[in-house]
Amino acid sequence: MDKKTVLSGIQPSGSLTLGNYIGALRNFSDFQNEYECYYCIVDLHAITVPQVPKDLRKNTLEVLALYLACGLNPDKSTIFIQSHVHEHAELAWVLNTITYMGQLNRMTQYKDKSRKYNESINAGLFTYPVLMAADILLYQADLVPVGEDQRQHLELARDLAIRFNNKYSDTFSIPEPFIRSTGSKIMSLQDPSIKMSKSDPDKNAYILLLDDKDTIYKKIKRAVTDSENHIDYNDRQLGLKNLIDIFSSLTDKRTEEIVEMYQNKGYGEFKDDLAEIIIDCLEPIQRRYKELISDKEYLEKIYSIGAIKAERKANNTLRKVYKKVGFVPKPDMIK
Ligand code: TRP
Repeated sequence: MDKKTVLSGIQPSGSLTLGNYIGALRNFSDFQNEYECYYCIVDLHAITVPQVPKDLRKNTLEVLALYLACGLNPDKSTIFIQSHVHEHAELAWVLNTITYMGQLNRMTQYKDKSRKYNESINAGLFTYPVLMAADILLYQADLVPVGEDQRQHLELARDLAIRFNNKYSDTFSIPEPFIRSTGSKIMSLQDPSIKMSKSDPDKNAYILLLDDKDTIYKKIKRAVTDSENHIDYNDRQLGLKNLIDIFSSLTDKRTEEIVEMYQNKGYGEFKDDLAEIIIDCLEPIQRRYKELISDKEYLEKIYSIGAIKAERKANNTLRKVYKKVGFVPKPDMIK
């Protein structure tokens, strides 16, 4: 009963990239045996930027199928869609009332996104990190596997948990981020100073988990490097550094080993091998994905069971929160 709890989520805002996989998804299945795991598809978060409704629906099922294809086991983990558990939005509201405007103003992801969508910045984009804190705190999560870019959001979740616990009484566990030292931030293949992102207008900047072999090969061949013509891992050769990080993450070889392996070889040979490693890694995932995505009934079963299990836990936390802030309990007969 005293297993620790893990929670994480991915937005269904487009096809997932190799960056999503290496930074987050690939780590998810590792926790399944020793932790109580909750993995959600955060559709409420996705609508903070413009979405086409039918694509959002499709992408949500795509992320679910990818979760399963990447090894999440519904008998071990609770896999669910965020909007199916209304407690997320409700706890977010309560947490909004103890969040300072200044804290949200300092969020770098908000600053980046509001620059990008400058004509249509909505209040949801501003309070996005509060909803994320609600996702985490509802399940009393101890550990949250995420990419490096989510560190600041995790800090907020911890801060809000501590603030609430101090203001009322012990209610929430204080979550810790789980961020790997290599691979937690995979960069664009075309501009290694920015994160690999599926919303990049340049398709060569990212590899999608569902890209076919030829596409992967071409994108790696086109990835920017430098003119030093010498394999090394440093901050002057950022493009190469990123490729070595990808190599290292997918093979569990240390970066020094990789540099050693390619000491007297050219970038071409390194890239050929890297492309092959990526293709070999994604091939079984893609095969499994194809089977799953065509079985809508099975997917529906998984997310239905997930919603019931998630709601049980979430409701338990939300009831305590409502009681502590002073709401009159809702009588059983109108539940
Ligand atoms: N903000 C996260 C991202 O963009 C997604 C997310 C939403 C999340 N809720 C979460 C991640 C809860 C971990 C835990 O990657």
